[in-house]
Amino acid sequence: MSPERARGSTLITGIGLLCTEAEIGDIEDAAIVLEGDRIAWVGRAQDAPVADGRVDVEGRCVIPGFVDSHAHLVFAGERSEEFAARMAGERYSAGGIASTVTATRGATDDQLRHNVASLVRELHGNGCTTVEIKTGYGLTVADEQRAAEIAAEFTPEATFLGAHVVPTEFAEDPAGYVDLVTGPMLEACAPHSRWIDVFCDRGAFDADQARAIISAGQAKGLAVRLHANQLQHGPGVQVAVEVGAASADHCTYLDDADIDALANSETVATLLPGAEFSTRSPYPDARRLLDAGVRVALATDCNPGTSFTTSMPLCIALAVREMHMTPREALTAATTGGAAALRRDDVGRVEVGARGDLLVLDAPNPIFLAYRPGVDVIRQVWRNGSLLMEKGRRDGCGNER
Ligand code: NIG
Ligand code: FE
Repeated sequence: MSPERARGSTLITGIGLLCTEAEIGDIEDAAIVLEGDRIAWVGRAQDAPVADGRVDVEGRCVIPGFVDSHAHLVFAGERSEEFAARMAGERYSAGGIASTVTATRGATDDQLRHNVASLVRELHGNGCTTVEIKTGYGLTVADEQRAAEIAAEFTPEATFLGAHVVPTEFAEDPAGYVDLVTGPMLEACAPHSRWIDVFCDRGAFDADQARAIISAGQAKGLAVRLHANQLQHGPGVQVAVEVGAASADHCTYLDDADIDALANSETVATLLPGAEFSTRSPYPDARRLLDAGVRVALATDCNPGTSFTTSMPLCIALAVREMHMTPREALTAATTGGAAALRRDDVGRVEVGARGDLLVLDAPNPIFLAYRPGVDVIRQVWRNGSLLMEKGRRDGCGNER
């Protein structure tokens, strides 16, 4: 099923089931025409127009590329021992961030760039065709600025997270650190960022500090997303709704008032089951959120501390198995949900005019993403209208075919 031509328009046909995640719904025996970086046509294969090139996906299922709206990729080092200690019973604490801060400050620009590039490659291979990238492991003006610059080299969805934790050198003067974040650090990072984020939780920033940081960011034209209610019940979700954040992320510990507030807002609840998996925390109650009418997204939270995964299919499987989402709800959360969390309507769906981001699955339907946990069912990744990756298949003798 290799493409006959790389340029001009491409007809992708032989789609057994197309899950558009758009108003047109699912289409059997479907086809798509890609032109430039966009989707130019979607419909039944029998009605498809002629195109310059043709790819037959031989009855496979096609879904939109995943939108990973929460990832911390600009860092150095790793924390596998911390993970092992947690599996042996230790509790996660925000304090672990400090060791990644030390490693990140000690890394060269090229090392950081190389690390981000390899994680972005992994995310692409796992079907994430849109990726948000946060700063937050520099925590000095210069280190946050270079993190923001590197993030912006890889995505328009770069997020300034200078308010990740108070770094050790400010342990006695947290107010001084908030002044630094809202002053010179924001000044240096805002030109490279679309978003501002605050870790509003135990061991990080309280509601008033979060409000001050958010309003400084908004004054610089940044839109807001928030780490909220990850480690305990706290004010994070309420602050997110109050300031009109695009997303409240984690939402592990919620009460009825939080769920009501989310349901009556435009704020998406972004759930990050990789973090609960890797910290042995309780999973968020996705069923309750969905039943209350809250818009839900799924994201990887890829970071070296709480969720060192780039696998959206793993997050989907966890959402289905552990958070009682249906396979279809999980697919929606990983596509249009992520797009809503980034306030994007050009990604996460297959419709005319949307970006040509598609996943061809080695499966007849998207249930296989959760039904075959740990198995790579993504056969092809199309991004910006071009084939980005194709997984080789081996026959019984170990030969690629
Ligand atoms: O989303 N919660 C804050 N930030 C990350 C963890 C960061 C770390 O432990 O390095 C998260 O889980
Ligand atoms: Fe995070």
